Amino acid sequence: MSNPSLLILAGDGIGPEVMGQVQRIIGWYGDKRGLNFDVSEDLVGGAAYDAHGTPLHDDTMAKAQEVDAVLLGAVGGPAYDDLDFSVKPERGLLRLRKEMDLYSNLRPAQCFDALADFSSLKTELVAGLDIMIVRELTSGVYFGEPRGIFEVGNERVGINTQRYTEAEIERGARSAFELAMRRNKKLCSMEKANVMESGILWREVVTEVSKDYPEVELSHMYADNGAMQLVRAPKQFDVIYTDNLFGDILSDCAAMLTGSLGMLPSASLGAPMENGRPKALYEPVHGSAPDITGQGKANPSACILSFAMALRYSFDQGAEADRLEAAVEKVLADGVRTADLMQANDGTPVNTKEMGDAILSALDASL
Ligand code: IPM
Ligand code: MG
Repeated sequence: MSNPSLLILAGDGIGPEVMGQVQRIIGWYGDKRGLNFDVSEDLVGGAAYDAHGTPLHDDTMAKAQEVDAVLLGAVGGPAYDDLDFSVKPERGLLRLRKEMDLYSNLRPAQCFDALADFSSLKTELVAGLDIMIVRELTSGVYFGEPRGIFEVGNERVGINTQRYTEAEIERGARSAFELAMRRNKKLCSMEKANVMESGILWREVVTEVSKDYPEVELSHMYADNGAMQLVRAPKQFDVIYTDNLFGDILSDCAAMLTGSLGMLPSASLGAPMENGRPKALYEPVHGSAPDITGQGKANPSACILSFAMALRYSFDQGAEADRLEAAVEKVLADGVRTADLMQANDGTPVNTKEMGDAILSALDASL
């Protein structure tokens, strides 16, 4: 049988730096665990624009459709701020999500014990926090038509459309309920059914789907209240299911609760392919961090943990995913810190490669 295939799209800013460490981890799994991957690399975002004049070349799109999983670093940067909207780096990522039909975006917000003091919230509110946000990723206001800037009378009007079909709400809901079944069996659905018809439909469909998951305790919350509850008492949540735009915002909020954006991975999953694996793209939640690009300061953990999610969700290697997550936790517990995980006067941070070294040593020690 041939090896599973991975397409690495390191992208912009710190993307290539953190991905360099992921490549070493992938190498470790080949050498030490006999888990070999066929890895290819290509461009996305500003890097693709520089080379091809487009943030995602058609050939790259075609490759992404064929591989077992895509690993993405980050896209964007100030050099591309003035580009036309249609070729902005972010458009490359959005095209991947849309054309691969990656409708279920898993964003864990997990507070590592060693970093609990780091949150802007009181330690006791976040210690042990473990939430999974499931964000619908291929529809809603990000993609709804009509959209554009139009001349109406003597002024311009900017239009975007929140649009959800029942099927779109349902398939995402099913993935969220499935996850809830494997976790603490609690699901909170967030919309604004008080002001949006799409929210009313959302609530109805999620309630309908819940009948297939009687063990899961379902609740509904208006998304604004959800934002408030996330900072008031985040540990009340297990799985949150919400739409594309609310999910974008709520997941940033949840990420910050953990105090360590540099630690958070994500998975974007679609329907199963012929081989039974879901279409999948894995990426850190953090962005391209232009302020620290090229300085060796970036924390590779989020990108490495995204690979752990790939092991779990694409390659059925849950035990190996656990091993990698435990290695990262061990490194944190040992006090190894990149600059983003330190406060002033906290001592000397390690650089990107040294963080990779520490995680590799912890992996070795786990054997
Ligand atoms: C995210 C990002 C993206 C989004 C951008 C980069 C297009 O904020 O993945 O959360 O808005 O979805
Ligand atoms: Mg975002």
